[in-house]
Formats: sequence, structure tokens, C-alpha cells
Amino acid sequence: MTEGLWVPLSVLRGLLLLLCVGPWAEGGKLLVVPMEGSHWLSMKKAVQDLHARGHQAVVLAPEVNVHIKEEDFFTLKTYAFPYTQEELENILLHHSYMVFEPEHFLKTFFKTMTLLKNTSALYQRSCAELVHNKAVIQYLNDSSFDVVLTDPFYPCGTVLAEYLSVPAVYFLRAIPCELDFEGTQCPNPSSYIPRLLTRNSDHMTFLERVKNMLYPLALKYI
Ligand SMILES: *[C@@H]1O[C@H](CO)[C@@H](O)[C@H](O)[C@H]1NC(C)=O
Ligand SMILES: *[C@@H]1O[C@H](CO)[C@@H](O)[C@H](O)[C@H]1NC(C)=O
Repeated sequence: MTEGLWVPLSVLRGLLLLLCVGPWAEGGKLLVVPMEGSHWLSMKKAVQDLHARGHQAVVLAPEVNVHIKEEDFFTLKTYAFPYTQEELENILLHHSYMVFEPEHFLKTFFKTMTLLKNTSALYQRSCAELVHNKAVIQYLNDSSFDVVLTDPFYPCGTVLAEYLSVPAVYFLRAIPCELDFEGTQCPNPSSYIPRLLTRNSDHMTFLERVKNMLYPLALKYI
């Protein structure tokens, strides 16, 4: 009796599941607000996979950019950007060069400070331009996206998701000063995880571990 009741129920459940995941299921509409530079190179792969699963993506990027170019797996929507290509590359590439320059900690520290200030100013201005761009905001609002996929390194994605009342999903590679570890409360022991600017590897001697404990104090200031 129970058997007779259970078999059709499980068949029914299977059918329901098939209906949900089958070709009748609709893909979502995704607004992607990426972070420029190498961050985008990682996120691009996720967008490509989402496209392969039937989702539609619109990637929103400034007209002036380094890596965010048109691809066949998303629609690129651009907006006016208040900096020239040269100014942008100056700020973004400066950081890449700095990683390879073996300089004194203090010098690197102050350079990092200026760089972060310059980068913040750049992205703040570009975000202000974006949210005041009536044509782009109207287009985004009319598109009724299901979700905003963004990188918290560029907080404008969060601002935009909030503004358009669309839920946000985050894709993060790294953020300076361990804000990602603080935000997620992940285990982050100094004995094993090399800190920013230390040039330590994950195998440290005792003195390197001491250095690894001391550097974050300065990074707190940044
Ligand atoms: C930061 O901006 C200032 C003023 O625009 C500029 O002189 C300086 O070279 C920039 N520094 C870095 C590290 O990008
Ligand atoms: C988006 O459109 C809705 C409906 O037309 C409107 O109520 C809302 O204010 C618009 N939001 C923005 C940010 O323009």
C-alpha cells in the first residue's frame, strides 16, 4: 500500500525536477559590473560559463578601459568616463610595476598610499558620472535584470544594484589590507599567510614570520 503510493510520488517528483532544470527553464538576465584589470580576466571566465548555461549577460564598462573588450558571450554596454586612456593606464599599470620593484618598505608604503588614493579618486569620479548618466540608468532600469554580478573591489557595482533594487552577487579575487578576510571572518593566521608588501612566500623563517606580524600594523593605517 505504502509502496504503491510512494512510487508514483517519486516519479512525480522526478518529473517536477525535470521541468525545473529542463530546456523549458529560462536563463536569467545578468548585469555584470566588473573591476578593471586582472580582476576582470578571472571574472570573464565565470561570465562565459554562465552564458554557456543559458544566462544572458550585459557587461557594463567605462568607454576608456584596459581589458574589458567585446566578446561573443555577452553584450557590452559602455558609459562615458572622465579620464583619458593614458591617465587610466598610468594609474593601473603603475601598480603592476610596483609589485616588481624591490624597494624599501617605507617607500613602497607611501607609494601604495598615493596609489590607493588615486585609484579611489578615479573610481569615485567614474561612479558619480555613471549614476548621473540618465540614458544609461534608464537603459539599465528598463532591462529588468535578475541579478548584478560584481566585484567588491569596485563598490560602484553595489551602489548600482542598490539603486536599481536588484540583488547583488559578489565575485572577489582579492582586496588590499585584508578587508576580505575581515568581511568574511575567514581564518587568516599570520604564520602561514604572506602579508601584502612583505614579499614573503607561504614558507617563512622565524624572522619572516615576525615581519609578517608587524607589516599589517602599517596596513591598518592605509
Ligand atoms: C597620483 O596622482 C598625482 C596627482 O594626479 C600624480 O602626481 C601621481 O603621480 C599619482 N601617483 C600614482 C602612484 O599614481
Ligand atoms: C526604475 O523604473 C521604475 C518604474 O518605472 C521607477 O519607479 C524607478 O524610480 C526607476 N529607478 C531608477 C533608479 O531610475
